[in-house]
Amino acid sequence: MPDVTLTTLNKLKQSGEKIVCLTAYDATFAHVESEAGVEVMLIGDSLGMVLQGHDSTLPVSVDDMAYHTAAVKRGNKGALIMADLPFMAYATLEQALTNSTTLMQAGAHMVKLEGGRWLADSIEVLSRNGIPVCAHMGLTPQAVNVLGGFKVQGRDEVQARAMIEDAKALEAAGAAMLLLECVPPALANAITQAVKVPVIGIGAGSGTDGQVLVVHDMLGLSLSGRVPRFVKNFMSGQPDIPAAIRAYVAAVKNVEFPAAEHEF
Ligand code: KIV
Ligand code: NA
Repeated sequence: MPDVTLTTLNKLKQSGEKIVCLTAYDATFAHVESEAGVEVMLIGDSLGMVLQGHDSTLPVSVDDMAYHTAAVKRGNKGALIMADLPFMAYATLEQALTNSTTLMQAGAHMVKLEGGRWLADSIEVLSRNGIPVCAHMGLTPQAVNVLGGFKVQGRDEVQARAMIEDAKALEAAGAAMLLLECVPPALANAITQAVKVPVIGIGAGSGTDGQVLVVHDMLGLSLSGRVPRFVKNFMSGQPDIPAAIRAYVAAVKNVEFPAAEHEF
């Protein structure tokens, strides 16, 4: 078991202390991030874009995720390791169980999947079998072709109300954590207050229980030259990468990041 557990994260939520999450894909970054105080390291399927150079996360395989999860596990110093179930890895209950098993056996402590209330059955079966689940809502990049692009979600009242209901349904099904990507801060705050489990945000304002970023983004590394509004470059003014990651941890803990300029 890692030093940081779901119990730790629930206590942080209750005490109002922010949870720091950051993507990691290899052993060296895992070592540096966990030593810097990152509590949850996410092996994101964003690796399809930042490591593999694809224009979406859709080409990422379960084997890719397991390879990087195993590397992160080797460098980890006590953080909770969360691994993404990639595109089409949880379309059926059977697939969700088999593929989550692969990721857990590679070193993950929990898995993350993308979607709404239709995931309730999968989440219930996974948690019943000892696999904690984080449900990623709002902008769900695996559905980019359905959403019509990487766009802010939950802007209108009907969509927003539906997302709050989805969040409650997924918590009731056993979700141990929620992650909100690119939603208006007011909606993120409403969801954070509507559920007891920790809510991590990216592009969702400062009111969630924690924050996550793609590590390449926060180090000023970009493949496309286009940087999302919610990203801050933590390298500026820092002598090296460990210092930049420590600055990110401090900024999340002090609620200095995200600032108003990073919100939608
Ligand atoms: O894949 C990823 O890096 C993610 C985060 C952006 C939340 O899912
Ligand atoms: Na992801």
